[in-house]
Amino acid sequence: MSNERDNNNQTSTLWGGRFSEATDSFVQRFTASVNFDQRMAGEDIAGSRAHADMLCAVGVLSADELSEIHQGLNQVEQEIADGSFAWSIELEDVHMNIEARLTELIGVSGKKLHTGRSRNDQVATDIRLYLRGAIDQIALELSRLQKGTIGLAADNAHTVMPGFTHLQTAQPVSFGHHLLAWNEMLQRDYSRLLDCRERMNQSPLGAAALAGTTYPIDRAQTAAALGFTKPTENSLDSVSDRDFAIEFCSFAALLMTHMSRMSEELVLWASAQFNFIELPDRFCTGSSIMPQKKNPDVPELVRGKVGRVNGHLISLLTLMKSQPLAYNKDNQEDKEPLFDTIDTVLDCLRAFADMVPAIKPRAEQMRKAASSGFSTATDLADYLVGLGLPFRDAHEVVGKAVAHGVETGLDLADMELRTLQTFYPGITQDVFDVLTLEGSIAARDHLGGTAPTQVSAAAARALALVNSR
Ligand code: ARG
Repeated sequence: MSNERDNNNQTSTLWGGRFSEATDSFVQRFTASVNFDQRMAGEDIAGSRAHADMLCAVGVLSADELSEIHQGLNQVEQEIADGSFAWSIELEDVHMNIEARLTELIGVSGKKLHTGRSRNDQVATDIRLYLRGAIDQIALELSRLQKGTIGLAADNAHTVMPGFTHLQTAQPVSFGHHLLAWNEMLQRDYSRLLDCRERMNQSPLGAAALAGTTYPIDRAQTAAALGFTKPTENSLDSVSDRDFAIEFCSFAALLMTHMSRMSEELVLWASAQFNFIELPDRFCTGSSIMPQKKNPDVPELVRGKVGRVNGHLISLLTLMKSQPLAYNKDNQEDKEPLFDTIDTVLDCLRAFADMVPAIKPRAEQMRKAASSGFSTATDLADYLVGLGLPFRDAHEVVGKAVAHGVETGLDLADMELRTLQTFYPGITQDVFDVLTLEGSIAARDHLGGTAPTQVSAAAARALALVNSR
């Protein structure tokens, strides 16, 4: 990109007064951020409007100057929207590009906009505004995913599947119960997101370069105009810390970790070996060589994208580590990881929010899987405890029955009563009530348990919580 504005004077950057030679062209490219920070243009203009209004209110700008600044900013905004704005790498970043164009448009009033402000508090303000907007979008998508998950859970309160530990059949659970476990993870992610929003929503504007400014600024006015809850307390901290971006990325890393676990289960469940669910074709792709293939690309890709999001968290932590107060140019490196995290999270949430409600469970297959693998062994042990056996002895008796089942290929519910009685004579016909899948899940009838009545009630509570947002 060439900068036509500066053609006649090699040192006429915004800080040209101090310099006797132009910036090396490689250094210019190396230090510029405009290629990636121009996405904060809307926030930058909003911050400038609020700052200019405040400068006029405290008597630093005249009403005429203010009105010229507004007209100029409106035009800049228009040019950016219609694509005619000439972004220039020589002007380094979004802030200086906009200010230079404003001055080109309105002259001397444009040069007054930066009174009592620095790019340091300006960029700290812009990132917060941008991130806040992104958080609000993410909150909506996350809510949509939760609603879809809860809806599928409510429809499947009675659908029985094997529950696993160590990916080995453990005990029968309701498919709805499993889905509500996903929702709990998402619910905590949502609350972490809101915590992060709450802490970051303070205005650094007025901190100026690092120490504040000599003008009689009204920080409460700009904070309120930009929708912040209040101005930040300390000017040095305001321009230097990016902990809010790190906090957001740690929220994102956890959310993506949770979505990778869901993805992994979807991939397993959609396999021919499990065959628990059908993923709609529109979320899958075929193979160019194997005609039978239907690949669960969407969950696989979400699982894979955790890598970049975790990487961005580490980037930001490392970027911040050991930085002395106050602002350092290092902080310019906060944007690309942050923006990519936002984009990735939004895409993954969108994919999941579209896909999850469209999952078709194969109830018969799940049932079949739950009926094998001795999933009701614990129920038999609990039954024996009911007959007066200490739990450890009951465990031993059931272990022997299972060993017999492994030898003969019979599950517990398939054995004859007399066979079961060889392991413990007190067993009677009613044992088969607890050995059925329905009996097993219905018996876990307490808060947080897998009994269908509990699952339905939990789904209703979860939905009410999401709807109350
Ligand atoms: N582009 C810079 C950033 O992203 C803006 C702040 C520059 N401040 C400075 N003193 N060089 O951090």
